[in-house]
Amino acid sequence: MLDNAMQYSHRLLSEVVQPGDCVVDATMGNGHDTLFLSDLVQSSGKVFSFDVQSQALEQTRTLFEKNQHSLDNVELIHASHDQIQKYVSQTITGAVFNLGYLPGGDKTIITHSESTIAAVQQCLAQSQIGGRTILVCYYGHPGGKEELEQLLSFVTDLDQHEFSCLRYEFINQINNPPILLCIERKK
Ligand SMILES: C[S@@+](CC[C@H](N)C(=O)[O-])C[C@H]1O[C@@H](n2cnc3c(N)ncnc32)[C@H](O)[C@@H]1O
Repeated sequence: MLDNAMQYSHRLLSEVVQPGDCVVDATMGNGHDTLFLSDLVQSSGKVFSFDVQSQALEQTRTLFEKNQHSLDNVELIHASHDQIQKYVSQTITGAVFNLGYLPGGDKTIITHSESTIAAVQQCLAQSQIGGRTILVCYYGHPGGKEELEQLLSFVTDLDQHEFSCLRYEFINQINNPPILLCIERKK
């Protein structure tokens, strides 16, 4: 069966992220990507996870506890992802964004194109050659289509000599299935 967007994002990351690497979860939410990344980079690596809601940090701590998983290689950062460069000085091999609102949380607190694009630019600037920045774009909610349009325009305009950009989506599904964008740094 074909991967859904979340599964495909994990596949794309696991192909390039190695133990000991430094990676970013730009939208921590309930912590599922943070947990996945923490496993990928292992105890010698580091995951920097961002969210603007303290609820996300609490949910993520709870998820790690439930899984009896150490948070030692994770930094949970209560800040907007457009502050990535303030917190991350290392080269990164992977970054993931899950856009939209916190599942089970306040649906009016959503990601916005201006800060999302600023954060993506910071990830690309910190990315190792071959590193991947992945955006899983949910856009069925109010404000989602505007963010998607801005992001598609930004990613489409990236220089093909510097970046390979991929779009992955199911084109016969109803209810706005997420669109995955992957940006791989070439040089
Ligand atoms: C779709 S959820 C992420 C789901 C998450 N990947 C998971 O595994 O549960 C989007 C998250 O982005 C957060 N968010 C919104 N604006 C943000 C910003 N500027 N910086 C960081 N996080 C932001 C929301 O608070 C929300 O928790």
